[in-house]
Amino acid sequence: MKKMIITGENKLSGTIPIGGAKNSAVALLPAAILGRGISTIKNVPEISDRDALISILELLNCQVTVHKDELTIDTTNLKNTLIPSNLSNRLRASYYFMGALLGREKYVEIYIPGGCNIGSRPIDMHIAGFKALGADITTDGDKYILKADKLVGTDIYLRFQSVGATINLMLAATYAEGTTTIHNAAEEAEIVNIAEFLNAMGAKITGAGTREITITGVNELHGAEISVLPDRIEAGTYIILGALIGDNLCIKNIIPKHLEALTDKLKEMQANFTISSDSITISATKNLKPCNIKTLVYPGFPTDIGQPMSVLLTQCAGTSIFEETIWENRMGHVPSLNKMGAHITVNGMTALITGPTKLIGQNVVATDLRGGAALVLAGLTAEGTTVISDVEHILRGYENIVTKLTNVGAKIEIVEI
Ligand code: EPU
Repeated sequence: MKKMIITGENKLSGTIPIGGAKNSAVALLPAAILGRGISTIKNVPEISDRDALISILELLNCQVTVHKDELTIDTTNLKNTLIPSNLSNRLRASYYFMGALLGREKYVEIYIPGGCNIGSRPIDMHIAGFKALGADITTDGDKYILKADKLVGTDIYLRFQSVGATINLMLAATYAEGTTTIHNAAEEAEIVNIAEFLNAMGAKITGAGTREITITGVNELHGAEISVLPDRIEAGTYIILGALIGDNLCIKNIIPKHLEALTDKLKEMQANFTISSDSITISATKNLKPCNIKTLVYPGFPTDIGQPMSVLLTQCAGTSIFEETIWENRMGHVPSLNKMGAHITVNGMTALITGPTKLIGQNVVATDLRGGAALVLAGLTAEGTTVISDVEHILRGYENIVTKLTNVGAKIEIVEI
């Protein structure tokens, strides 16, 4: 068990380099098994979700070499085997082994995935899509068994633009006979990154990044090289931190276009920042205007930046409405923020946040990854010392968070308890 100790109110200046996107990397690693041979994935963030996926790849007899942020995965001697619950439940993205193994091996046995407790998180669209491609799916307690003699391309309509279902079905369909079209596909930049990797392996995918993705099946994929795109959620979290307590804090290695939903809101709030081709420099300013945030699928305001953003809303002069629309349980951080002095009232998936309120350090608990990140931002802004327990949630998605923040002047450490 680890806890994080933060002494707040230190102005942060300098540069925070952004790493590869968690939500892309966690799909690219399982996707590698579709290619027979060696794949190289660059700019992989050093997060605990990466380590969990490497353990699953090794269980499947893939040879994984890690050199800093570069991973080499040799799938030549892949052995298809049951993925047990102690591995699958370490993260949500273990479910990408369903699509990847179904595609390559036409057989998968895997226990239900884990992930943050931010909602009920069904995978019915993944399952319905696999079935539409020709898979027979049974469950045995918490175990899924997926098998197919062959997969056949078809039209799949998603009732919601699900990131996970879009990726999982893209993975499985690469080896299906004929053409698969995913209608109402999610449009996230991460999906483009996965499609680029699969196409570099020899897949035939068009339309990634739009609502309609077409996959023409192939018989063979080979190893390929890909670089993980910059993490827009890590970047967004630190940009918000800059608006809270930055003094020319530069967030570098980003794609500003992927952050437009956030920067538009920061403009509305009259935050003090400038955007260059690959960075944003931001300073704290007084008298931020309140604003209303509604999380939406890409390119709308990202649900994963909603919780960090709620901390900034506590510093705006007036009442803001923060409405979450994707996950029914993304307000777990609010009791901790209120304990620190925020004025937030929650009604279902909507929060009313009235500011500005002075935040005071407290003992708080990270209930999930992005809620935990929100508490880090609050702790760095607050007067006195904040102690966050259950920081393992945060380490699942923010690489080298202590080093990155210490380098810009934060007083933050993680201790074992
Ligand atoms: N949904 C269903 N059925 C399905 C799949 C999804 O009802 O079969 C619902 C979900 O319950 C949710 C909505 O559809 O209400 C969106 O789910 P989606 O499938 O898009 O989410 P995901 O793929 O499970 C990924 C990220 C999340 C991020 C969401 C939305 C990964 C590993 N996770 O989840 O990231 O919030 O997309 O952008 O890529 C995080 O990083 O903190 C995080 C939770």
